[in-house]
Formats: sequence, C-alpha cells, structure tokens
Amino acid sequence: MASAVVTIRNNGSIRIEGDFTIVDQEGKPFDLAGRTMISLCRCGQSSNKPFCDGTHNRCGFASVVEARALPPPAPPASAPPKPAP
Ligand code: FES
Repeated sequence: MASAVVTIRNNGSIRIEGDFTIVDQEGKPFDLAGRTMISLCRCGQSSNKPFCDGTHNRCGFASVVEARALPPPAPPASAPPKPAP
C-alpha cells in the first residue's frame, strides 16, 4: 500500500512526499520520472496544472491553513435511516 505525506503549504502548493501515484480522471498515471516528491497547484494559476510552477509566488495567492478535525462524513444516500433513540 502506498504511503505518502501530503503537506498543505501556507500561501503555496500541496506537497506530496513518499510512495504515491497521481492519476488522471481516467486512472492513467502521470509519469513522474522517479520523483518521490511533487507539488500540486493550489492557487489555480500554474501553467503546468496540476503541478505547481511557482506562479503562486507572483500572483498574490494567500491561504494559511492549520490542521483541524473535520465533521464525520455524511452517510451514503442508500444507507437506511437510524432508528430513533
Ligand atoms: S500553488 Fe504554485 S502555482 Fe499554484
């Protein structure tokens, strides 16, 4: 099983390090030429999407992120309703 660390960088990209595969919508893998670290664009301005090309440094992208807990996921639409207590 792949093991990777995903780091959301303040005012910048999403960095992935470790053992991972990046695929397109059809499941076709990108050839990362042996890289074990890659940065994905989070600002939407890269000319090389989905990868970061450093444009976030010039476009004023600002997003400071701190780790937090998310609420539980919504149950699937097909899940039976929970019984009343
Ligand atoms: S996050 Fe780096 S170019 Fe978008």
